[in-house]
Amino acid sequence: MIAVFRLRDGSLRAVSAVCPHKGGPLADGQIDNKVVVCPLHLYAWDLSTGCSQSGQPPISVYPVRVDDGHIILGD
Ligand code: FES
Repeated sequence: MIAVFRLRDGSLRAVSAVCPHKGGPLADGQIDNKVVVCPLHLYAWDLSTGCSQSGQPPISVYPVRVDDGHIILGD
């Protein structure tokens, strides 16, 4: 499962939808322009790199773009 977020500047980020901590729903997490915060225990991951800001394992990040009105995952 992959979570896709649209940032305030209109750009997209796609990351793993399952939190590596205890399986929380990252797709339901709060975002700002840099991180997603898991709703279960509030750990944060960088939306561009997947790196944890609290010592947790990284999340996967995926290339994402809009092409002719469709969200495309992958290169
Ligand atoms: S399950 Fe996501 S931070 Fe714990």
